[in-house]
Amino acid sequence: MDYVNGLFLGYLPYIALTAFLIGVLYHFFVSNKTIHATSTQFLEKDWLIKWGSPLFHYGIILVFFGHVFGLFTPPFVIEWFMPLETKRMLAISIGLCAGFFAFIGLSLLCIRKFVSSRVHSTSSFQDYFIVFLILVQISLGLLSTYITTQSTLADYLAFDYWAQGLVWFEPNAWKHILEANIIYKLHIVNGFFIFMIFPYTKLMHMIKAPVMYMFRGNKMFDSSKTLIDKL
Ligand code: HEM
Repeated sequence: MDYVNGLFLGYLPYIALTAFLIGVLYHFFVSNKTIHATSTQFLEKDWLIKWGSPLFHYGIILVFFGHVFGLFTPPFVIEWFMPLETKRMLAISIGLCAGFFAFIGLSLLCIRKFVSSRVHSTSSFQDYFIVFLILVQISLGLLSTYITTQSTLADYLAFDYWAQGLVWFEPNAWKHILEANIIYKLHIVNGFFIFMIFPYTKLMHMIKAPVMYMFRGNKMFDSSKTLIDKL
């Protein structure tokens, strides 16, 4: 069992992040493929997308920053500002709200994919697969945070020590979360799987749209093409 835990919680993060980085660089400098994160708003502009899209996007952006600050800020730095227990309470309350928004938003977008025949017929297998993975990921994340509400501060901080241990290449970092509930572990493994396939999917628009926007020059205002055409 130690072997499996070491593989998934110790080595997988490095494998996944290397695959992610190579994929992103390859995409930018070698293949330079167009990303088809095609908007479907022109097909049907209904309340499902009107509410689903902002709820999902704002929710998931908040979750993203929560993960970065939550996992990678060393506990001694947190303690300059607040007790660690306060950080745990903030992570639970803000995390649950943001995760819940993202979940509701993505569920509305999913329903739209099925109830609108025009959106359904323009969606590929890859679209459904990614949406499914993210929905599973958010559900596992929300369950993990629920488990955090029932566990101790030390159990919660173990994830910070693990993540920060990985950054410093500590060979035994994975042992911090060896005893963690399987739901957390499934969340982490599925999360790194999403990272690995990220550069080969339409999720790349998350990186490419802001980067292209920064280096766009005036040509970006050429009204004959949309932003997505230029990516
Ligand atoms: C791959 C690296 C990831 C790691 C190590 C990770 C770790 C965690 C941990 C430890 C929690 C529980 C936080 C707590 O107890 O308060 C959590 C919660 C959560 N995660 Fe992740 N996660 C990862 C990726 C993702 C991804 C890619 C998504 C979304 C697509 C996601 C969505 C969520 C959500 C919605 C929650 C619950 C709300 C929150 O606490 O923010 N996670 N994650």
